[in-house]
Amino acid sequence: MEKEISQAVIRRMPRYYRYLGELLDEGVERISSNDLSSRMLVTASQIRQDLNNFGGFGQQGYGYNVKFLYDEIGKILGLDQKHKIIVIGAGNLGQAITNYATFEKWGFIITALFDINPALQNTSVRGIPVYMMEELEAYCSRQPVDIAALTLPKEQAPKTARRLVDLGIHAFWNFAHVDLDVDDRDVIVENVHLSDSLMQLSYNIVKNRR
Ligand code: NAI
Repeated sequence: MEKEISQAVIRRMPRYYRYLGELLDEGVERISSNDLSSRMLVTASQIRQDLNNFGGFGQQGYGYNVKFLYDEIGKILGLDQKHKIIVIGAGNLGQAITNYATFEKWGFIITALFDINPALQNTSVRGIPVYMMEELEAYCSRQPVDIAALTLPKEQAPKTARRLVDLGIHAFWNFAHVDLDVDDRDVIVENVHLSDSLMQLSYNIVKNRR
């Protein structure tokens, strides 16, 4: 059985992945944990501990092979697979996410948007079609969908999530400010609340003034 990795470690992985990607772009082939540490402002021992969770990857006296580590972390994060996303709610946020084409670089492919506003019928965002919610069932029976991004009003989010679970979608990237009450252990929800991050920033600003 695979060892359970703590969520705290998993949350640090994307940052490692980003830094290693930058090193690759700079043509760096290997790096010591000390050098990686000074770049990332994380202690070298934290880096070693984190990476030891996955079997280390480093070699004494050599450091880390950047490409190898980048690929391995990519695999751990599931970035070696494609994830097909539908966006539910094609308003400001749904369109902004869809317009950010760089997600595709990491394997996240937005294949369709859905909305209830008839004014959006037969439109597209970055060439990706916007469908009406009535077409959701038919679409999901034809196309594989791995993730639903919820960018619709919060009042609509819980019941829409249940409808999507019934269609076999088990992963949600939830931007609606509501806890999804999907009563299914197999359902995975990643909540993203920019306002939480702003409040954290605000706290740190005022803390320094107190
Ligand atoms: P918006 O009003 O521009 O877009 C919402 C879209 O959802 C509209 O096009 C509307 O027609 C559609 N919609 C309404 N009911 C629907 C349903 N039952 N099924 C499918 N589509 C439906 O709003 P905006 O600014 O794009 O925000 C969308 C959501 O994201 C809101 O819940 C907002 O609070 C949230 N939000 C969250 C942020 C975060 O950091 N988590 C940041 C900004 C917005």
